[in-house]
Amino acid sequence: MASPIRLESETLGLVLRDVAEGDLADISALLADPRVHDSLGAGSVPSTHQQAAEYVERHADARWEPNRTDFVFAVTTAPQSAVEPTPGGIRRNVVGLVELAPGSDGGDAEIGFLIHVDYWRQGISRAAGAAVLKFAFETLALPTVVAKCVLTNTGSIALLLKLGMQRMDDREEPGDDDRPRPYARFQIWPLDPSE
Ligand SMILES: CC(C)(COP(=O)(O)OP(=O)(O)OC[C@H]1O[C@@H](n2cnc3c(N)ncnc32)[C@H](O)[C@@H]1OP(=O)(O)O)[C@@H](O)C(=O)NCCC(=O)NCCS
Repeated sequence: MASPIRLESETLGLVLRDVAEGDLADISALLADPRVHDSLGAGSVPSTHQQAAEYVERHADARWEPNRTDFVFAVTTAPQSAVEPTPGGIRRNVVGLVELAPGSDGGDAEIGFLIHVDYWRQGISRAAGAAVLKFAFETLALPTVVAKCVLTNTGSIALLLKLGMQRMDDREEPGDDDRPRPYARFQIWPLDPSE
């Protein structure tokens, strides 16, 4: 599929679209925030401005690739959206990113979320995640979607359960410091229309 792609979530007035070059300032601020990293485990996301620029360039280019399997959606707010930055926060065009890409083992598509802290707890991930899962099952016809989450990230675990994902099992992988990092695996399948 060579896009651009645009998904809408009416729940909150969100528009999810491909990452574009003009998103760099918002995405760099999002990726550089240690509060985002702390939840994931250091090193899990590109954090310097240079790494963010490479990330934006790579994904902005990817929107034109045929048969793409790697999607990064910039989450933006429609003009009528009720979403606001928290008091003291900065108004941004891109309030977060949702990824849908083959997992590190090259297997099932994995969903992941990064929302700017100024916009946490407004239901953005829940609405955006539902739109991306719909796209995964109805447009891409994927058989399943998985997610991984470190056990300390209780907010993300609650989010994945609210999206209807099943907690499968807990595993360990080496973190940046090579110490074992326990994480939970989640999985969801398309709804059976006969149910
Ligand atoms: C986790 C994260 C994606 C949640 O995004 P969000 O847009 O704030 O989430 P939502 O507002 O849609 O929350 C949906 C539900 O998830 C749960 N949840 C989300 N953040 C939570 C938190 N900090 N503490 C407890 N529960 C939380 C709640 O059950 C919430 O529903 P409620 O607000 O009705 O109680 C966001 O905090 C983030 O980007 N964190 C850093 C990166 C990260 O951890 N990504 C996930 C990796 S798997």
